[in-house]
Amino acid sequence: MSVTEADQVVAHVNSHAVFAPIIDEYQVPDMDRLNRDLVAEIRQWQQEDGGMTRSNVSGWHSSGNIFKRTDPAIEKACKHFIEACKPTLERYFTKEQLNNARLDLEGWANINPPHGYNQMHTHDTFDLSGVYFVKIPQTSSEASGALQFLNPSYRYGPYSKLFHAMNPPKFTFRPKEGTLLVFPATMPHWVLPNDEDEDRITLAFNLRMKELSGG
Ligand SMILES: [Fe+2]
Repeated sequence: MSVTEADQVVAHVNSHAVFAPIIDEYQVPDMDRLNRDLVAEIRQWQQEDGGMTRSNVSGWHSSGNIFKRTDPAIEKACKHFIEACKPTLERYFTKEQLNNARLDLEGWANINPPHGYNQMHTHDTFDLSGVYFVKIPQTSSEASGALQFLNPSYRYGPYSKLFHAMNPPKFTFRPKEGTLLVFPATMPHWVLPNDEDEDRITLAFNLRMKELSGG
């Protein structure tokens, strides 16, 4: 039997996307009403709480845990956050395994006023992190208030164009009100300065999975 030319062409049979951090994006229902109520509750919270310093520069980072708050809108948002983590968790574990796991959750509110930003940081002692965009000032700027993630595979150095094409240094997400992002807690990230005259308000959280039976 003769070998045809088609037989001699190398066949692409699969692409393995390995070691690829996944950022899951969700849309929260009834966001107009929820966000209006969240803004009121978070601003009230700010009146009573001097906040704390983490990655925030010129911004307010609440102290305390949103998952322990009883404010109705914050409680509702927290339920959405837990719900939204399920598809991510179910990518790696069965429902039965998850039923036997305990989820440790902590969360906080952020208000970035004009010029406020967040320095690069990770949430290394947790597994997943999330951010929900409550109030995002309208802007024509690509940069104002943008959330950026550092590619863990990126390296400085005299690398080729191909290396940089395969390993872009960062991923930029333009925040949208009502959107929730869930991402690996170890991914370094930061928030660019708010160039607008209004506050940029978010809720953020961390999740750690413990006591997985059979794990
Ligand atoms: Fe963060």
